[in-house]
Amino acid sequence: MVGGSADVGHGARVSTCPVDRPTVTLSCFGEVRDAMRAKDLRQALYDDGALVMADCLLDLHGSEHRDRRRLENRLFRRETFEDYETNLLPRAIAEAIDPMAVVGRGDLVQIGYRAVMHLTSLVAGIDVADGDADRLEHIVKVFSKGATAVHATGDRSDLFAEVGDALVEFDELFFQPSTARRQYALAGLANGTIPASEVSRDVLTTLLQNVDALDLPIEVIRREVAFYLQAGGHSTANALTHTLDELWSHGDADLLGRARLDPAILQRCVHEALRLHPASPVAWRRTLAPVEMRSGTVIAENTLVVLDIEAANRDESVWGAGSDRFDPNRDVPDGVHAWGLSFGAGPHACIGMELDGGVPADPGDSVHLHGTVALLASALLRAGAVPDPSEPPEIDPGTERLHYSRYPIVFEPLS
Ligand code: HEM
Repeated sequence: MVGGSADVGHGARVSTCPVDRPTVTLSCFGEVRDAMRAKDLRQALYDDGALVMADCLLDLHGSEHRDRRRLENRLFRRETFEDYETNLLPRAIAEAIDPMAVVGRGDLVQIGYRAVMHLTSLVAGIDVADGDADRLEHIVKVFSKGATAVHATGDRSDLFAEVGDALVEFDELFFQPSTARRQYALAGLANGTIPASEVSRDVLTTLLQNVDALDLPIEVIRREVAFYLQAGGHSTANALTHTLDELWSHGDADLLGRARLDPAILQRCVHEALRLHPASPVAWRRTLAPVEMRSGTVIAENTLVVLDIEAANRDESVWGAGSDRFDPNRDVPDGVHAWGLSFGAGPHACIGMELDGGVPADPGDSVHLHGTVALLASALLRAGAVPDPSEPPEIDPGTERLHYSRYPIVFEPLS
């Protein structure tokens, strides 16, 4: 990605990217977090993924971002997640795991995708008929590849053609029917024939209700809904595989045993695995004006700023010596999240963070949300899942990111 580079102090490196735009890489925790919060740095990672990402929440800036985020935030209340964890997630998890447990083997990546897609299709507002889940999952994986086209290693034109076909199929099979149902419900709500309690609460309905206020073309609504599906699917599968891989490869038997019995311990393992293996190892921003960093370094306008989340999450000045080690019991400094910057920070901080990562209880709290990833991992361990000794996991060759494309497991009787 980069040509020559030079240090400008305190973890920032200046270099030149292939389009000859000056590039600065930040890798210190404090500077990466400041950059995520800075108002003069705008999203730049998805310029090559515009087919699926143009004008999506993650790609908006300033007041446009604030207005859309404010609307969509209303769908991400803690009471909603509590309801999901209690009522929906157990069924979603069982539907993802049970068919594989019955035959004695399965794949972690597939299980992670399938379980979370149950939730994200609900959040996004995409209705999935029985028998169409495989198709939707395939389409969403193509969208994910399209969004991160900047990291793709294969032929770009083949990738874009595949993404174009997936968008057409998504539109016909899922988006148009889901939209028609919601438009019908909203018309009924307006003329008093349908009560508010029968209108879905999801991203698609919210955007259709605000088409005029936000001046939203239908293609943007389609991309936004598609983005929700792929943002959740890929990151959850990534977090699940890395959590269990860390536990199986580096965790001790005692930790594994305790994690199997207590989802709160597993939740700490999820946060620690997220710190070490962010779904997106880098974020990219572009400066809209000169930006002064805490070190005093000034980054010139129109510079590409690479936020090295993976390096920041292992910054020894925050995590101490041994920051590379998987240690779910480590002390986390005040003001820092156990998952580091893996859910982002500032205006674009992940909207699905509590859905996937849960909310650890403070002393006296009555509710402890464990999060989708911990509950999925817990159900797998309790079902006797272990890595398949005959088939090692495979790293995805289609991207420079360290992602598992397959993680075969078998189910063994628990001793
Ligand atoms: C372990 C799971 C997940 C991880 C690690 C993760 C990570 C992230 C990160 C790092 C960002 C910010 C990117 C940036 O600043 O450039 C982000 C944004 C976002 N994520 Fe997640 N995510 C996860 C799960 C989810 C889920 C389940 C959903 C949907 C239900 C979701 C929806 C979003 C959305 C809509 C944004 C954009 C927010 C904005 O721009 O205001 N994520 N996520």
